Amino acid sequence: MLAKELKIKAHYHSDNLLQKIKNALEKTSKDMDRLELKDLAPVDQLHTGGAVSSIELFKKAGFSPDERVLDAGCGIGGSSRLLAKDFHCRVTGLDLSDAFIECAVFLTKCTGLEERALFQEGSVTALPFDDHSFDAVLCQHILMNIEDKAKAVKEFYRVLKPGGKLVLHEITQGPGRDMGYPVPWASKASLSFLESWKALAGIIEQAGFKNHFISDESMKAAIWWEKVRKASVTHTPRLDTLGPGIVFGKKAAFFGQNMAANFKNNAICLVEALFKKEQDA
Ligand SMILES: C[S@@+](CC[C@H](N)C(=O)[O-])C[C@H]1O[C@@H](n2cnc3c(N)ncnc32)[C@H](O)[C@@H]1O
Repeated sequence: MLAKELKIKAHYHSDNLLQKIKNALEKTSKDMDRLELKDLAPVDQLHTGGAVSSIELFKKAGFSPDERVLDAGCGIGGSSRLLAKDFHCRVTGLDLSDAFIECAVFLTKCTGLEERALFQEGSVTALPFDDHSFDAVLCQHILMNIEDKAKAVKEFYRVLKPGGKLVLHEITQGPGRDMGYPVPWASKASLSFLESWKALAGIIEQAGFKNHFISDESMKAAIWWEKVRKASVTHTPRLDTLGPGIVFGKKAAFFGQNMAANFKNNAICLVEALFKKEQDA
């Protein structure tokens, strides 16, 4: 693992994460063998807009049954499970963090989706998969952690089948200044690798992808984070109940305030996009 990747992994580290999640789930008195996706939504959606924004994006991107999807940087597997359950896809989630993968495997079993969603530790800059393995790659709030984006995008292109799609839900660099930390992907500037949308699209097209749609979702994101900010003023994220505090610890208390300000100052933007590898590639 690269030195930078070790630092990123450390940023997402939380001692005994799986046990903490199990303890928090026990408090909800839900039957652990029959969890519904909505039971996990407070903790397993590590991106702007939660499950609602994912579902909207997956519909726009046209995910269909039995498509083989790589959820690149899957976290604890929230979107992998959504794709498996609601869109009937066959998903492989990959993440740098072995602790996240352990949680993803456990939570997927609790929801009975273990035959449709598998998980594996690894880095998007050296994907452990054969060429032409997937119909789609989902890249959701991960490229901000990738310094060598060209390398990752080249890997996405390699593992996609001809005609395969690359679906993005990503934070990009905005025209404004005054970026505040910590944010969910980085506790300090040296772990954050934001690119402007134009630069990112250039890297993706350089790898051979063709753009099918791009949508600037910054306004919606700003509203969503403002709600998170307001909620965190009255309810500091707790470290022992299902929520971002379990995964991110005490720094989660600053996310609402910083992300709302970063969007308001145009320091960051949020984009959704669909790119495709050409049929004859
Ligand atoms: C903000 S979280 C988003 C997780 C998930 N996509 C979601 O939306 O719930 C970013 C994730 O990217 C993972 N990550 C960062 N760098 C990575 C890399 N080089 N390869 C694979 N995963 C990586 C992190 O471990 C973390 O789980």
